[in-house]
Amino acid sequence: MISKKLEAALNKQINEEIFSAYLYLSMSTYFLTLNLDGFAAWMKAQAREEMSHAMKFFDFLNEMEGRVTLLAVKEPERTWKSPLAAFTAAHRHEQYISGRINALYRLALAESCYPMQIMLQWFIKEQVEEEATAAGIVHQLSQIQDSTQGLWMINRELGERKAD
Ligand code: FEO
Repeated sequence: MISKKLEAALNKQINEEIFSAYLYLSMSTYFLTLNLDGFAAWMKAQAREEMSHAMKFFDFLNEMEGRVTLLAVKEPERTWKSPLAAFTAAHRHEQYISGRINALYRLALAESCYPMQIMLQWFIKEQVEEEATAAGIVHQLSQIQDSTQGLWMINRELGERKAD
């Protein structure tokens, strides 16, 4: 069993993860409008990963005999002023999500829910990776500045990402 308070917080997190998938899919289509297919493929793979995060919370809440409630998903932005602006937004979003995961962990501690604490440890580690990956791409994009050649190199590199 899980408390109503934790159930509500987990339902909110399912929604946050689905919104993350929406946001990255929106970024994927933005990159397609720039003919940056590698960037678009990377974002599409990221969106799939976000859905897998949502499903981990979904499965956990069901296993704990909680009730999953699917909340309305907010509409993501559609356009950014540059690839750098899009990845900066992605990085900020990951920092926001890390904050949400940390808040969930504090709640699980306050409610003495040990299974949820253990489940969240995976996400705490995952967020370190998610933030570092986005920060790395922001750094690469900042370094190339306006070089088209640099942008195409990163595009090729990102296109090599395997779907998770
Ligand atoms: Fe589900 Fe990108 O964190």
